[in-house]
Amino acid sequence: TLATEFHEPVRLAFIGGTGLYHLETLTPVAKLTISTPWGFPSSPITISKTKDGFPIAFLARHGPHHDLLPSDVPNRANIAALKKLGVNTIVAFSAVGSLQQHIKPRDFAVPNQVIDRTKGIRPSTFFERGFVAHAMFGEPFDPLLNKVISESCQEVLEGEGVKLHTKETEKDDLTLICMEGPAFSTRAESKLYRSWGGSLINMSCIPESKLAREAEIAYQMICMSTDYDAWNESEEPVTVETVVGNLSANSANAHRIAEKLVQVLEPKIKSGEIGLNYQHSMKFSVSTKKDGQD
Ligand code: ADE
Repeated sequence: TLATEFHEPVRLAFIGGTGLYHLETLTPVAKLTISTPWGFPSSPITISKTKDGFPIAFLARHGPHHDLLPSDVPNRANIAALKKLGVNTIVAFSAVGSLQQHIKPRDFAVPNQVIDRTKGIRPSTFFERGFVAHAMFGEPFDPLLNKVISESCQEVLEGEGVKLHTKETEKDDLTLICMEGPAFSTRAESKLYRSWGGSLINMSCIPESKLAREAEIAYQMICMSTDYDAWNESEEPVTVETVVGNLSANSANAHRIAEKLVQVLEPKIKSGEIGLNYQHSMKFSVSTKKDGQD
């Protein structure tokens, strides 16, 4: 049986999306039920250790039995629980639709930009009730982490004959549209997002990435393409069946990427090369006036 408490700081966390519910190659040492001021996370957090004893957290975004809709994911509790463990680096996985012909189902992508189409209906900040703070979000992902993850994904996927799309391969921003669900987009919406320069679409990046930034955690999302959404008139519009079918086909590659990233990130997080880019970034971002201030 696994420990229910863990007292060493944990720096690295993976958030698994649809089709990724655990880390395969590591031995779990603890399973933690963590309470936060925003409630409980989507699932208990599993702690595993590498052979050098470096602890890694894993959280299943949609719950251990995939019973949380994107709009119901307790994002604030998820990020607050990881912060409480000491996490400074999050690698998040997500299934996405493709808005571009050359990004085929089963390709992988590491986006560097996001457009928020969740319409503000999800609680998306830790700062409320008279406490005003503004996080910088012009670069929604940590560029240092983006680079390391892009390189590692490339190494893994090359060997498997799978294509990876990054801002380098696109020679431009690689933009993810994060939409409100649970219904998929209409064809007209899908075409609109293409006209905005969108390349990928999902329902999970916002507010997860925004809350990570507020919590001063370096964050990057890795996307697994499962469908052509609804814009591509030569294809059937996306269905859950297509998404799940392509995800299962891809899950071995997601696990290979996670395994590689554990190896690559452990020394970089230990040395401080990764994970500290946003440390103290919120220090001067509070704009609430103290009593007596003009
Ligand atoms: N997740 C996987 N495919 C998607 C799509 N086409 N739209 C939104 N989220 C998705």
